[in-house]
Amino acid sequence: MFDIQGAISLVFELLWTLIKVNYETIRGMWRVVVPPEPKDVKDDVIFITGTGHGIGREVALRFAKLGGTIVCVDINASSNEETVKLIKQEKGKAHSYQCDVTDRAAVMQLAERVSREVGDVSILINNAGIMPCKPVLKQTEQEIKLMNNININANLWTIQAFLPSMIARNHGHIVAMSSMAGLMGLTNLVPYCGSKYAVRGIMEALAVELLDDPRQLNGIKFTTICPYIVDTGLCKKPRIRFQNLMKVVTAGEAADMIVDAVRREIVEITLPYELHYLNRYIYRLLPFPAARAWNAFFNTGVDSHE
Ligand SMILES: NC(=O)c1ccc[n+]([C@@H]2O[C@H](COP(=O)([O-])OP(=O)(O)OC[C@H]3O[C@@H](n4cnc5c(N)ncnc54)[C@H](O)[C@@H]3O)[C@@H](O)[C@H]2O)c1
Ligand SMILES: *[C@@H]1O[C@H](CO)[C@@H](O)[C@H](O)[C@H]1NC(C)=O
Repeated sequence: MFDIQGAISLVFELLWTLIKVNYETIRGMWRVVVPPEPKDVKDDVIFITGTGHGIGREVALRFAKLGGTIVCVDINASSNEETVKLIKQEKGKAHSYQCDVTDRAAVMQLAERVSREVGDVSILINNAGIMPCKPVLKQTEQEIKLMNNININANLWTIQAFLPSMIARNHGHIVAMSSMAGLMGLTNLVPYCGSKYAVRGIMEALAVELLDDPRQLNGIKFTTICPYIVDTGLCKKPRIRFQNLMKVVTAGEAADMIVDAVRREIVEITLPYELHYLNRYIYRLLPFPAARAWNAFFNTGVDSHE
């Protein structure tokens, strides 16, 4: 027998869904034009990995200037101490902890220590990463495993360490460093691209899992950063045909954009911003060979350092 009541309620559910889809689409477009106000971070405890050098150090310095309490974490104790010294010189609040973020037990122990000595972490920034750059057949097993342990697994260990207290308070913000290499495949970066795609996958799935949670954990925010090339020395041989379009940014400039994106709770950004739209609305819509033709024209990438 035809279930007329069921059919009617299905139609209404579909209409309601269409209204929500349209509302969120318009709201999303509106937010691009008028981004939300940057949030205050004075009361935040901000745990950042890879603060001894490059982007991590610059992000730490900027959040400290805004009054946040920074937990600086790096495998390199001396360079990490240096970051904390720089913050304290400017009267900022920072603590340094040496930790190899690939070691899950060490990460768990550190989280426990930080909650005792500093307080509940409200912003987690997974920044530490490495980038071996050469053809896939030249990458050794050890290099590949280490890279995946730092670039992918460490994200999961810190999430497992800090998510429980964020869930308990329904408050927190998790930030991850992906890359333009997490949005498109690049020569000499086969394992690295895989790791940076993985970071985006982890962040998207985590957001979905928490939104599906019946406890309504909408107080936990997510931001994924996809920089192109930042002049930290990580990318040793960048090759760029149109320097004005695909700017190499300094670690300081990258950090300014990252801090702003986190404070505005933007879900995903590229640095520079425009590449996001180029990638999403032009590159991704093209058939692969057509995209390749654009690639050849832009002739942009990284050369092997071997
Ligand atoms: N520089 C770029 O062009 C660029 C582009 C896109 C994405 N990214 C990403 O941004 C992030 C930061 O890059 P960067 O250029 O500032 O790098 P960097 O090499 O300047 O600094 C990385 C820091 O991470 C630390 N680190 C490495 N392994 C660690 C471990 N096991 N445990 C704890 N700390 C560890 C290092 O000691 C170093 O201080 C990385 O995830 C990178 O993949 C960088
Ligand atoms: C730690 O960082 C300092 C300063 O950047 C550097 O000179 C030193 O070689 C690094 N140590 C290790 C073990 O990587």
